[in-house]
Amino acid sequence: MTKMFQSSGTQISSVSPADKTGTANPGMFFRRWLANPLQMGSVVPSSPALCRRVVQQVRRTPDEAVLELGAGTGVISRALLEGGVPAERLILVEIVPDMAAHLRRVLPGVRVIEGDARRLPELVPAPWIGRIGTVVCGIPLVLLPVAEQRRFIDAIAAVAPARGFLHYSYCATSPLPARRHGLLAKREAWTPLNFPPASVWRYTPTGG
Ligand SMILES: C[S@@+](CC[C@H](N)C(=O)[O-])C[C@H]1O[C@@H](n2cnc3c(N)ncnc32)[C@H](O)[C@@H]1O
Repeated sequence: MTKMFQSSGTQISSVSPADKTGTANPGMFFRRWLANPLQMGSVVPSSPALCRRVVQQVRRTPDEAVLELGAGTGVISRALLEGGVPAERLILVEIVPDMAAHLRRVLPGVRVIEGDARRLPELVPAPWIGRIGTVVCGIPLVLLPVAEQRRFIDAIAAVAPARGFLHYSYCATSPLPARRHGLLAKREAWTPLNFPPASVWRYTPTGG
């Protein structure tokens, strides 16, 4: 696969810890965690260091989109924009209505879909199906039973056939039983500069 887009660390260093853009909204994030810890999977938004590592793994040709699942308050989304993904080629899916509304407010021009990522084939606009270079999944799949994980993996495969996906996680080992899902797992990056320390995994279909 051609690596047409790869952000440099310098480009996204403007994702500052102070978050002058108001994107991170840690208060909203924490309240959602209190309401539904399993759905959120984390107490705080991803750190600038983790955002940078995710952006560095994105691959797309100029006419392809990036699809982010579980965009939360949008820190990775903003890093993707600052790393060079055009707003009209960034598609966000977020299940929490307040967060989807927040994403629309702070990321104008980006397509924000409020909905459940298990329904991706219905949610992603038809012209983008098969034209997604990278799927970034922030949904805490490790907390789900294998059959439920499978629903997300199948939904991703339906809109981005054969592409696999990036998945960041706080696990020391692969958060998914890759072989059982017919995937090859590769840890692409790790950072201690996140709470908790996090890895970026790439899952690719083995075709078997
Ligand atoms: C670990 S947080 C990541 C948030 C953000 N991307 C970040 O890095 O700070 C997981 C996000 O996935 C969302 N989520 C959980 N289940 C979902 C689902 N089935 N469909 C869409 N979003 C979901 C949660 O609401 C939450 O915003």
